Amino acid sequence: MFKKVIIVLVLISMQSTLIMAQNPTLETIFARKSVRSYTDQPVAHEDLVLLVKAGMAAPTGMNRQPWEFLIVTDKDIMADLSVKLPYARMMKEAQAAIVVCGNPETSVYWFLDCSAAAQNILLAAESIGLGAVWTAGYPYEERMDLIASAFGVPKPYRPLCVIPIGYPKGEQNPKDKWKEEKVHINKW
Ligand SMILES: Cc1cc2nc3c(=O)[nH]c(=O)nc-3n(C[C@H](O)[C@H](O)[C@H](O)COP(=O)(O)O)c2cc1C
Repeated sequence: MFKKVIIVLVLISMQSTLIMAQNPTLETIFARKSVRSYTDQPVAHEDLVLLVKAGMAAPTGMNRQPWEFLIVTDKDIMADLSVKLPYARMMKEAQAAIVVCGNPETSVYWFLDCSAAAQNILLAAESIGLGAVWTAGYPYEERMDLIASAFGVPKPYRPLCVIPIGYPKGEQNPKDKWKEEKVHINKW
């Protein structure tokens, strides 16, 4: 009986590995991780534009698309922000960053829409071999003001997050967050 259970578990795990290997989207989703250390290799402008395109492909409430994206390659601004912004030290090492901004006057969903865009950017970065991490602006007024003033983001736009980007330095592994006990079927 015990042997049978083990065999079934091994087969299930082999099956999901096979599905992942055959599905590049799932492979990217499961491989994504926050990368906070980068090499000196520059990131091509076209790749940064590609990441923003992936951001703009995200869904938005009522299709309002209440966003603007800022591509940053100015190392001085990034270094300055890396000391001013809490939990964003890695920005000093990054080759570039994308600031995802939203307009609260265009949509009440702005921070949700911009979050979907930010996640698309993180996944697109992973899929082309880049490393990236979400650093928070929203919901902290002080952090959003700091980011807005560093990059000249006009009112009423609010910077949801800054995503530092570069080629990963060292090996970083995705965390396994799967917890079956967090899944409820039909009724909690
Ligand atoms: C809303 C949000 C805010 C975050 N803010 C920061 C941040 O300010 N600095 C940072 O280093 N990481 C930040 N992260 C990244 C998380 O720390 C990271 O996603 C989490 O530890 C899980 O690790 P993983 O991304 O490798 O799966 C943020 C992530 C989210 C979704």
